[in-house]
Amino acid sequence: MTETTKKKIFQPLKLNNMTLKNRLLRSATWEGIAALDGSIDERTYSIYEELAKGGVGGIITGFTSVSDNDTYFEGMMRLSNDKLIPQYKKLTDIAHKENCPIIAQLALGAYYKNDREIRPNQMTEEDIKNTIDLFIKAAEREKQANYDGVQIHAAHFFFLSRFISPLINERNENGSIDNRIRILIEILKGIKSKNLGLHVSLKINSSDFEMGELMKKNVWKYAKKWQKKELTQLKLVGMGLREVE
Ligand SMILES: Cc1cc2nc3c(=O)[nH]c(=O)nc-3n(C[C@H](O)[C@H](O)[C@H](O)COP(=O)(O)O)c2cc1C
Repeated sequence: MTETTKKKIFQPLKLNNMTLKNRLLRSATWEGIAALDGSIDERTYSIYEELAKGGVGGIITGFTSVSDNDTYFEGMMRLSNDKLIPQYKKLTDIAHKENCPIIAQLALGAYYKNDREIRPNQMTEEDIKNTIDLFIKAAEREKQANYDGVQIHAAHFFFLSRFISPLINERNENGSIDNRIRILIEILKGIKSKNLGLHVSLKINSSDFEMGELMKKNVWKYAKKWQKKELTQLKLVGMGLREVE
């Protein structure tokens, strides 16, 4: 690492509403220790306190489900219910005490109806609208819990990455890419339209490593397009559906 790079890493960075004291951003990391209803306790608080005290410029939380009935993984944090807001406000207070902005990563493991997983192919228009709404409502709760930003998790085989991938979701096979990714745009636009003042980012696979995949050829085109309008940050991950199946 050159001296110039070192200097830059430890310089503050302003990203819209957030000022990072340096350019080290902790990537989302699932802890798996929340209660089934998404409640968190001292164990989670102490992990985040240690992270913030460690000196990173900002923290992206582990994936946080937007739905009460999403049982895709155990121990998920949740912003799916107003009753959880005070517990998560305590989490953001801990980070802010160390002058460390904190971004909640919003995710949906899978979409469930009457305790049954509904696959992307089987979803009705109403199911899709409900899903968009779940993300927007969770972002509003984030604001109430005093997070600085939101990262929408559309990577790593989570619901949104499956929904937009032609490898999994065969609906709209011959439609445009804009239509295929409309769910993401609607979520991002919906969040922006609430004027929450949150830093809005999206985590998406750069490739699914298969023929017929969505992103490989299009990722830069969409990155540029989104950067102008819906997003303040885009996180590309070199991990695709075929790698995590
Ligand atoms: C134990 C563990 C838990 C992780 N949990 C999450 C998570 O909750 N959400 C997420 O998007 N990525 C998660 N990741 C992936 C990391 O955030 C990160 O994307 C990955 O380690 C690759 O690093 P890079 O994105 O900087 O290349 C996890 C990784 C590990 C090792």
